[in-house]
Amino acid sequence: MTQTNDQYAVVGNPISHSKSPQIHTEFAAQTQQQMDYQARLIELDQFDRDVTAFFSQQGRGLNVTVPFKEQAYAFADQHSQRAQRAGAVNTLIKQNDGSILADNTDGAGLVRDITVNQGVSISGKRVLLLGAGGAVRGVCQPILAEHPQHLVIANRTVSKALALAEDFSDLGPISGCGFAQVEGSFDLIINGTSASLAGDLPPVPPTIIGSQSVCYDMMYSQQQTVFNQWAEQQGAATTIDGLGMLVEQAAESFFLWRGVRPDTHQIMQRLRTNAS
Ligand code: ATR
Repeated sequence: MTQTNDQYAVVGNPISHSKSPQIHTEFAAQTQQQMDYQARLIELDQFDRDVTAFFSQQGRGLNVTVPFKEQAYAFADQHSQRAQRAGAVNTLIKQNDGSILADNTDGAGLVRDITVNQGVSISGKRVLLLGAGGAVRGVCQPILAEHPQHLVIANRTVSKALALAEDFSDLGPISGCGFAQVEGSFDLIINGTSASLAGDLPPVPPTIIGSQSVCYDMMYSQQQTVFNQWAEQQGAATTIDGLGMLVEQAAESFFLWRGVRPDTHQIMQRLRTNAS
């Protein structure tokens, strides 16, 4: 009988830019796991059909990216608590009984990059999250679990910031507002808007940044992001881009699939030097 490796993939549309195959292939080699990981393009109306086919063959796990994170949530049979809170998932796991478990590792990846890789504690800090879309919803619970002094969600559409703050208010001190209403400076400022994709800056007052502020853009690119350039000009102590979040969310998914936690430092350095 022909034995093939367990199959994993990242699915999205578009997908050709994804660094996940490189990251997971390196994790697998490093931890000596017999597995293959590929990028797969899924047509916009074919998510359920293609994912069902994948799991009925050798497929053991998927990463899911734009625009399928909500569909992946609906597809799964069970959901982790953090996935339920996020309402969207980036990881699907085929369990031994054949059922599909959904999880969201984005927030854990962000928090691990900030607290472990960057050595920045969130506990007791004033934290500002910019944006109120799916990316921000996915990280609220893990940030609140670090016990910040306060978490402010600021968004262009104020009603979305208020609704998000309301949804998470049972987990810790959180409030929502518009960009112009943000008051005072913050220890940690995280840009989770998609404004950076278009080279735009969320119109927040420069007073949010103090000399001790750590600024984190969930996006990354070879050149410094527009938000981090601006933050540096305002005198932020540190600016960090989302490469570490990308690698750490991948490591967290890999751990869920294979039960082994890969080392993330080497791949992070390699992606940083080879960023293309
Ligand atoms: P994602 O999955 O990346 O979070 P999303 O759910 O579409 O994508 O959310 C995009 C976020 O970026 C929203 O908070 C959006 O603000 P609105 O809720 O007001 O639409 C924010 N955003 C997008 N473009 C922006 C811009 N040019 N300036 C400020 N905020 C922007």
